[in-house]
Amino acid sequence: MNVTRLRPARTSDRSAVQDLIVSERLLLEGVDESFGEAWVVAVRGDRVVGCAGVESHGGHGVLRSVAVAVDERGSGLGRRLVENRVAWARERGLETLSLLTLTAADFFAHLGFREVPREDVPAAARVSGEFTHTDCVTARAFLRRLD
Ligand SMILES: CC(C)(COP(=O)(O)OP(=O)(O)OC[C@H]1O[C@@H](n2cnc3c(N)ncnc32)[C@H](O)[C@@H]1OP(=O)(O)O)[C@@H](O)C(=O)NCCC(=O)NCCS
Repeated sequence: MNVTRLRPARTSDRSAVQDLIVSERLLLEGVDESFGEAWVVAVRGDRVVGCAGVESHGGHGVLRSVAVAVDERGSGLGRRLVENRVAWARERGLETLSLLTLTAADFFAHLGFREVPREDVPAAARVSGEFTHTDCVTARAFLRRLD
């Protein structure tokens, strides 16, 4: 049985990542602009079974598109993806990592993100498509300081 491992995303992963995002009804907008080393994928064999990305805006990061294939959930992969992107953002000197979620608030709270009013998210991060898109107006905001 193949082990699930994480690795930096490659250009050739983009369509599998987009399929995962669409199947979870997450926001596709802005993926192309940030796709590359700011993204991590989880792979089992040659199948992409998870992903997460970071958009960088003025020294602040927006964590986005954290998704795990349904048949891979509940074994720690979501946590590994989030921790991987937190470490990546910290290495790059980003001050904060924020996110919006409609579906996984308890998951992110469990992993050390603090729910905040949107206006407490740094203004630089709020230019992200996640924060400006109409589909996300009712999403809850979470923030984690990286220092
Ligand atoms: C949210 C998601 C990424 C979690 O992935 P996962 O691989 O099942 O999560 P893990 O197994 O790594 O769980 C890590 C921890 O979070 C907890 N957890 C998982 N999902 C949770 C949830 N919905 N609410 C609260 N806690 C949750 C687990 O119990 C586990 O706790 P533990 O480490 O103390 O045992 C996955 O359910 C998913 O892809 N959902 C659909 C896409 C989505 O909504 N993404 C968020 C978009 S912003």
